[in-house]
Amino acid sequence: MVHDEVLEVLRPPRPPQPVPGREDALTVDLPGWDRRVLTLRTAVAVFVSLHLDVPRPRSLVSGEHLGRIAAAVRASLAVAPSRAFRFEAAGSRSPDFARLGAELASAVGLPYAPDDGELVVKVRRGFAERPGTDPGWDVLVRLGPRPLSARAWRTVDYPGAANATIAAAMVRLAEVRPRDRVVNLMCGSGTLLIERLLAGPAATAYGVDLAEHALDATRANLAAAGLHATLTRADATDPAALADERFDLLLADPPWGTLHGSHADSPRLHADLLSAAHHLAAPGARLVVLTHAITVMERALRDADGQWRADAPVRVYAKGHHPRIYLLRRS
Ligand SMILES: C[S@@+](CC[C@H](N)C(=O)[O-])C[C@H]1O[C@@H](n2cnc3c(N)ncnc32)[C@H](O)[C@@H]1O
Repeated sequence: MVHDEVLEVLRPPRPPQPVPGREDALTVDLPGWDRRVLTLRTAVAVFVSLHLDVPRPRSLVSGEHLGRIAAAVRASLAVAPSRAFRFEAAGSRSPDFARLGAELASAVGLPYAPDDGELVVKVRRGFAERPGTDPGWDVLVRLGPRPLSARAWRTVDYPGAANATIAAAMVRLAEVRPRDRVVNLMCGSGTLLIERLLAGPAATAYGVDLAEHALDATRANLAAAGLHATLTRADATDPAALADERFDLLLADPPWGTLHGSHADSPRLHADLLSAAHHLAAPGARLVVLTHAITVMERALRDADGQWRADAPVRVYAKGHHPRIYLLRRS
């Protein structure tokens, strides 16, 4: 998903490449510093990335290496300002890192704040291309004082809120169609709804949740994003919850774990969600569901009497869990 968004937004001379040894990163060569990187919605964070052929972090303070790291920090600051930097590294509290921090601070003119510097500089082992060779060290300087996944619109936190980058991926999977009538069922703090509305216009927008405090959170987050939607307190598994309204795009991430429900409720909830969503769906509608309950969801789909046609689910990574995104089309 990130690969495709990068191609579309940044139009790099060469497509993004996988990073050897990692499943969670891509590398993109850009001809210059481009503020558009900060507009990426499916990337959790963007870094200026350097590889340095040194045997240990202590060597990074030497002139040539320090110069490259300082240039990367300046490049990051040119894209987005920060007040201070910190290291994220094994041994970041060692005297070697204290020295590197002091030297880098004086080279760049940016304070080193080991505890709370907002600009993150990661230092980690590189990837050995061949066994037995020294992998060197990678230095990654984040662009921006906060990860891109920390959205400015999130003024109210909500337990179990979806990661905004995953919400953005769900929206991309479903495609943005300006004439879509959109509903976010079980909307919580509104992450899916807000990411959809930020991606492009919609004909109508609704959010539904059982909990008043969830709707309060959605209301505040929508306002911070400069967006508007109709919010309804109702049981989203009740087909009559939205009277005669019909929708072209339905988004949902049902409760998981014990945060907003119980494991025992999960099969019923998923089955009822699919059936209520089918009732609310206009012909040709898409339903996008993010769920951690894979077995439960697969069974609910099998039992849904062919109401929905499912694409192969997309597995995503969220805080140590691997939920999946299901893109379903109304049969
Ligand atoms: C995982 S949370 C959604 C989080 C949301 N996507 C966000 O980013 O904040 C699930 C939500 O489903 C709501 N919920 C649970 N059962 C529901 C039902 N039957 N009808 C409507 N909402 C329900 C809960 O109140 C909770 O807000």
